[in-house]
Amino acid sequence: MESLQKERLTSERGGRRNSSMENGGSALKNWRFIGNEKLTQASAITVRGVLNMLMENLNPDEARPVIPLGHGDPSAFPSFRTTPLAEDAICSALRSAKFNGYSSTVGIPPARRAVAEHLSKDLPYKLSPDDVFLTIGCTQALEAIVTVLARPGANILLPRPGFPYYEARAGFSDLEVRHFDLLPENNWEVDLAAVEALSDENTVAMVVINPGNPCGNVFKYDHLKKVAETARKLGILVIADEVYDHLTFGESPFVPMGVFGSIVPIITVGSISKRWIVPGWRLGWLVTHDPNGILMKQGIVDSIKGFLNITSDPATFMQGAVPEILENTPADFFTKIVSTLKESAEICYDRIKEIPCITCPSKPEGSMFVMVKLNLSLLEGFMDDTDFCCKLAKEESVIVLPGVAVGLKNWLRITFAIEPSSLDDGLSRMKAFCARHAKKQ
Ligand SMILES: Cc1ncc(COP(=O)(O)O)c(C=O)c1O
Repeated sequence: MESLQKERLTSERGGRRNSSMENGGSALKNWRFIGNEKLTQASAITVRGVLNMLMENLNPDEARPVIPLGHGDPSAFPSFRTTPLAEDAICSALRSAKFNGYSSTVGIPPARRAVAEHLSKDLPYKLSPDDVFLTIGCTQALEAIVTVLARPGANILLPRPGFPYYEARAGFSDLEVRHFDLLPENNWEVDLAAVEALSDENTVAMVVINPGNPCGNVFKYDHLKKVAETARKLGILVIADEVYDHLTFGESPFVPMGVFGSIVPIITVGSISKRWIVPGWRLGWLVTHDPNGILMKQGIVDSIKGFLNITSDPATFMQGAVPEILENTPADFFTKIVSTLKESAEICYDRIKEIPCITCPSKPEGSMFVMVKLNLSLLEGFMDDTDFCCKLAKEESVIVLPGVAVGLKNWLRITFAIEPSSLDDGLSRMKAFCARHAKKQ
């Protein structure tokens, strides 16, 4: 991760020097402004950045279509088109002229109420609209909570592998990051002993992503309960990233972390991005599950409101459409998406078994991804996972995310949220690629 980061920073700095020289030596002028290095550093590793770098390795003369197995946005594929009901809801909200003004900073009341009711369906108690804060996608929700928790000397516990935005955002806010492992041999469960060992009096929170990105795992009720009990013992809050909620197709049903809100305060972050396959609509939420009023007492709720007062809001007409989208999406839309994901996950799992240098520790049961281990000792001529992915892009026009981008070097994250036939094609190309580069016995 470090070498990627350094390479990028060096080439960016070099680029800046060259262009200033071309501008007739304007570097000599003593400009008083300067870019914020902290931003460049915090954002050095992002999924999109790594994918862009891989795209640059594609062979322009390749006639076969590019197979993207690195993304988290299947909205362009026909099988993953959102429901017409959601599209109509947006059009009606827009045309009603009721949502042309600014929203209140926490979100408009009908939308907050709709999210509270929607999420309460899976909980043993009812959320109030006041527990819900509307955000610009799930991204702004996690930005809000990380910013709220950051104070000098504090640290946050993040899963490894995980979603690198947390590291980036925490790094920018000077919130120290400590990683606990997810255990591949244990269905990617949280290493709770590591959580206890890592935490100290400055630890403020731990993050769980369920269903999992990048592992495709789904935590069971009992495990989530243990997570809640551990967090309670440590006096820290749990940030539950449930952006892939209900995208499950294995034995374990989705259990929201909020179920354990009476054990420990929970902040859930989510959005309509994944379940409705509309990440571009940028509508998300941050929800407090806190029947004992601890978050309020600790000033967290006021800080969340403070954060939202000084940032922007999701577009008001989007919020206007939320009640219709959440209340009336036909069940068969979800059934179809989940069954497409299930079919793709199965193809993915079966085809991976045919590739000797790649092993999959557990069959994906949720989200859109699977993590697989790359055995480089069976291959000739690859330095690491990034090198493997660059050459795969170049030779086969298949894009796969190197594990280093999500915290696990020499692993790969494969997205199966794509048309099943393209997935099959992509994995066949990967198999041929691995066979071509296999070490001669
Ligand atoms: C684990 C996780 N959290 C949060 C997000 C951000 O979601 P959104 O697109 O709603 O901002 C993503 C997006 O890929 C994600 O994978």
